[in-house]
Formats: sequence, structure tokens, C-alpha cells
Amino acid sequence: MFKEDLLKGKTIIVTGGGTGLGKSMTERFSELGANVVITSRKLDILEKTAEEISKKTGFPVLALQADVRKPFENEKVIETAIEKFGKVDILVNNAAGNFISPTERLSYKAFDTIVDIVLKGTYNFTLAMGKYWIKNKIPGIVLNIVTTYASTGSGYVVPSAISKAGVLNLTRSLASEWGKYGIRLNAIAPGPFPTEGAWKRLVPDDASEQKLLNRIPLKRVGNHIELANLATYLISDFSGYINGDVITIDGGEWIAGAGEFNWLDSVKQEEWDDIEKSVRGKNDKS
Ligand code: HXC
Ligand code: NAP
Repeated sequence: MFKEDLLKGKTIIVTGGGTGLGKSMTERFSELGANVVITSRKLDILEKTAEEISKKTGFPVLALQADVRKPFENEKVIETAIEKFGKVDILVNNAAGNFISPTERLSYKAFDTIVDIVLKGTYNFTLAMGKYWIKNKIPGIVLNIVTTYASTGSGYVVPSAISKAGVLNLTRSLASEWGKYGIRLNAIAPGPFPTEGAWKRLVPDDASEQKLLNRIPLKRVGNHIELANLATYLISDFSGYINGDVITIDGGEWIAGAGEFNWLDSVKQEEWDDIEKSVRGKNDKS
């Protein structure tokens, strides 16, 4: 679907790009010719990913250590990326922290830790990029990776849910404010995509995974390439008129969870004759 040189000459920063979905997006962007800068706390993992991907694609992947919670470290990433590639065109805010827990069991520090990474980390990096883009008249693009519960809310991941909701609101708010500079912001709300980072903190056993699959109309989890291709579209010129929106990619999971009568999926086909008879029997024909 995409031409091989679609992202040639573009420089993209992917936070949390060393693992999971960040790594998959990095690989796809690099295959399509981009210069990709990946950042996170663990330099050894970043360097391994960078080497693996650039060897495969032939395009540069630069690994830079930065904790999204620290604005000066993010600014340093932007500076280094400009020194190396001349400019930065796109930011993908993908870094996150999360774990399941009843909210009343959380310490204040546990709550802060997630909010600091997900919400503050995202606005820190976005602010640093925006200042640079506006000053240099560059029509930058931001893609924020949120979740479906950014809109619905969810128990047991409350610090993540309120932070992702904030990130979604940031996406919409800045899409309005910075549109006049040619800067676009959009978000992707993924359903479940197996990654080591998410699964070990959120899907602790096979029974949890089965429950999760049962909730999804397509009865499967997402493939990383499906998300990577959507991300590619949203950071490319093909989506040039999409601004301030969020695209859900979850096999229909959240909408199925919300539909009042979707529980009728559990009714067996052979039971429908009796149900229909009973419902018709209650029609008032007088
Ligand atoms: C309760 C916990 C806890 C747990 C940590 N804490 N894990 N509390 N239950 N399971 C508490 C700690 O006790 C501490 O509080 C505070 O949180 C900070 O913990 P640290 O380990 O010191 O923090 P840090 O080393 O900064 O690690 C951050 C982290 C960790 C978020 C806790 O999990 C991490 O590094 N995560 C990064 C990757 C990640 O989470 N990926 C998943 C993204 S998936 P006290 O008070 O005791 O000092 C996702 C999408 C989900 O977001 C949607 C799926 C469908
Ligand atoms: P992951 O592999 O654990 O990715 C999280 C990344 O964030 C890691 O590379 C981690 O690297 C980095 N990170 C964490 N704290 C950081 C910090 N303070 N500063 C900089 N980087 C930091 O999990 P994933 O599943 O791929 O998640 C990627 C994104 O998708 C997240 O935004 C997540 O919320 C979203 N998402 C995932 C799913 C899913 O099913 N997998 C569903 C919905 C949304 P370091 O540890 O090296 O810092």
C-alpha cells in the first residue's frame, strides 16, 4: 500500500522505541526510508533495537537515552537529532508505564509514577517539539499512542486511564491551537496488542488472556504491523487533513463492550426459537 520511499528524508522521534509497539513502528518507519530516533530509559535495549533495525532496513536508527519525565533530557534528544539529521519532522509519543491494581492499594508515589510518565512525559516532549517547530516554521506532526479507555475510563488501571484521557485532550486542544502553524496532532487508541511490557503487567495468566479474547468481536488480538501501518498513514501526507482525531484499532472491542444487547452473543442459535416464541407471545394484538 505504501511506496518504499514514503518517509524518505523525514526524521521521526519515537519515545519508548526500543521495545513493543514502539519498536514495531520504528521498524516500519525505517523500512519506508525515515531517519528514526528512539528514546527511553534503558540505553542498552535501545542500542540493540537500533542496530537490529538499521541493519535490516539500511536506514539510520539513533538510540538516545532520555526519561520523558525530564524536560531537559527530551530537549537534548531534539538537539542531537537536529545535529545528526538537520531537522525533526515527527514526534510519536509512545512511552508509557502501567500496571493493574485496585486503586485503593496504590501509594501516592505509584499513582504519580504513572501520571508522570504518561501524561507529563507526553506534554513535556510535545511542548519541546512545538517550541522548536513554531520557532523554525516547520509543519510538524505529533502522533500520541493512547488506549480505548482514554475515552471510556477503566477500573484497575486508573492512573493510566486518567493520564491517557489527558493525552487525548492534549491531542485535541493543541490540534486546534497549533493548526495555524501547520502542526497536526492525532492519536491511535489500540486495543490489545501482545507486547512483553504490557502483558507481564496487565495480562498475568492464560485465563486473563482468554477473557480478553472473548470480549473482542474479531476473536483475536492485534498484529503489530496493523498498528504500524495505521501509524504510518497518520504521520504521512496522506492524512494531511486529519487533525485532532483518534483512530481506534481494537477489533471492535470497546464498542462491543458498550452495546446494551451484545450479551446476547451468549445465546445459542437453537435457543432463539423459544425466545422468539416467548417475545411474540407477549405482543398485544387486542
Ligand atoms: C502496586 C506498584 C506496582 C504494582 C510498582 N508500584 N508496581 N504498586 N502494584 N504492580 C509502585 C512502587 O511500589 C512504587 O511506589 C511506585 O509504584 C514506583 O515504582 P518503581 O518500580 O520505583 O518505578 P519505576 O522504576 O519508575 O517503574 C515504573 C513502572 C514500571 C511504571 C512501575 O512498571 C515500568 O517501568 N513500566 C514501563 C513499561 C510499561 O509499563 N509498559 C506497559 C505499557 S501498556 P512506592 O510507594 O512503593 O515507592 C499500556 C496499555 C495498556 O499502557 C492497555 C492494554 C490493553
Ligand atoms: P512497552 O514495550 O512496555 O513500551 C513502553 C515503553 O516506554 C518502553 O520502551 C519503556 O522503555 C518506555 N518508557 C517507560 N517509562 C519511560 C520513561 N520514563 N521515559 C522514557 N521511556 C519510558 O509496552 P507497549 O505495549 O509496547 O506500549 C507502547 C504504547 O502502546 C504505550 O503508550 C501503551 O500505553 C500503548 N498501548 C499498548 C497496548 C498493548 O496492548 N500493548 C494497548 C493500548 C495502548 P524503558 O523501560 O527503557 O524506559
